[in-house]
Amino acid sequence: MYKYLRKILFLFPTEGVHYFSMNCMKILCSLGLGRLILSPAFRPKEKGQWQIVGIEMSNPVGLGAGFDKNARYLQELECLGFGFVEIGTVTPLPQAGNDKPRLFRLPEDCALINRMGFNNDGVRQIVLRLKKWRERNKGSQLIVGGNIGKNKVTPNEDAWKDYETCFKELHPWVDYFVVNVSSPNTPGLRELQEKESLRKILLHLQMINNGKAQSKPIFLKIAPDLPKEQIDDVIDLALEIKLDGIVAANTTISRDDLVTDSPKLAMIGAGGLSGKPLRQKSTEIVRYINDRTGGQIPLIASGGIFTGEDAIEKLRAGASLVQVWTGFIYEGPSIVKNICRTLAMAGIQNNNNN
Ligand SMILES: Cc1cc2nc3c(=O)[nH]c(=O)nc-3n(C[C@H](O)[C@H](O)[C@H](O)COP(=O)(O)O)c2cc1C
Repeated sequence: MYKYLRKILFLFPTEGVHYFSMNCMKILCSLGLGRLILSPAFRPKEKGQWQIVGIEMSNPVGLGAGFDKNARYLQELECLGFGFVEIGTVTPLPQAGNDKPRLFRLPEDCALINRMGFNNDGVRQIVLRLKKWRERNKGSQLIVGGNIGKNKVTPNEDAWKDYETCFKELHPWVDYFVVNVSSPNTPGLRELQEKESLRKILLHLQMINNGKAQSKPIFLKIAPDLPKEQIDDVIDLALEIKLDGIVAANTTISRDDLVTDSPKLAMIGAGGLSGKPLRQKSTEIVRYINDRTGGQIPLIASGGIFTGEDAIEKLRAGASLVQVWTGFIYEGPSIVKNICRTLAMAGIQNNNNN
């Protein structure tokens, strides 16, 4: 069914159709039809027991950062069955992001290229929205992560202040944090993946966290393009400072092995590639970190997960949970349900062994 709907949706501009679809779902939910139609149709039936650093959820499938940047669609996403949703990337000040068009489909590769540039409403507005959502959805089981970044105008040497602002403001309203230093679409951001820059930002956030009555787990999201030595640096630092976990991985700047032809790629231009072409690379990083640390660092896998088999591959490589993004666009609203069904059929209903 979604196969046919997707054909129609793909006739329209990528970014516009994203908001159109989510707003349609919002209308359905506001009419009270979310729980009546969406939940029964799309929520997984299997009840599992999944956890990461003490956070428990009913299924291991999350929605990656960048889909609901402004925390507008939490209720709708819960109806679609997601175990957790990562909002953001949130920056201190609102920013418009890069000029449009900035999101492109590569259907031959089941992929996307984006150069959104952290378009978001800014932390204040997003906190207000989260607060309202929490008040109205007291019984909600949905786990919400806060993915935080820096504004484009903030120089790298002051980046820690932006992370601090977002961390403090979001702290009461999210269940975990992800420090994003790996987006290819904010100039210079990925330089913050260098060990000493990371140490400064992460130690500072941990210090604030330790002063809170209830601390929140802090994850680091890394790029799939890091050379091995730099992944080793990240691992060493994570172990040294007892970081709660790593999200592997963000979009790639590589254009290797794509079916899409070079003129089309040249026309699209710069941006992060996501979807099926990222699957293997992301699995390799998850496996590498897991093997090198003997499973000491909790991992959330992101990159090219479309099916239950893709999710199993990531879990077997050492991930505790998985996130989808591009797969949601290509597979449609049944993606969580389908993945959970495959996991259950494979007898995988918890990650207690991780
Ligand atoms: C349009 C778009 C916007 C994204 N925005 C963000 C973002 O703001 N912050 C972030 O950490 N990751 C962002 N991502 C990366 C995704 O969260 C995910 O890590 C990546 O797309 C790989 O997963 P996938 O292959 O399932 O799409 C974005 C991805 C896409 C396609």
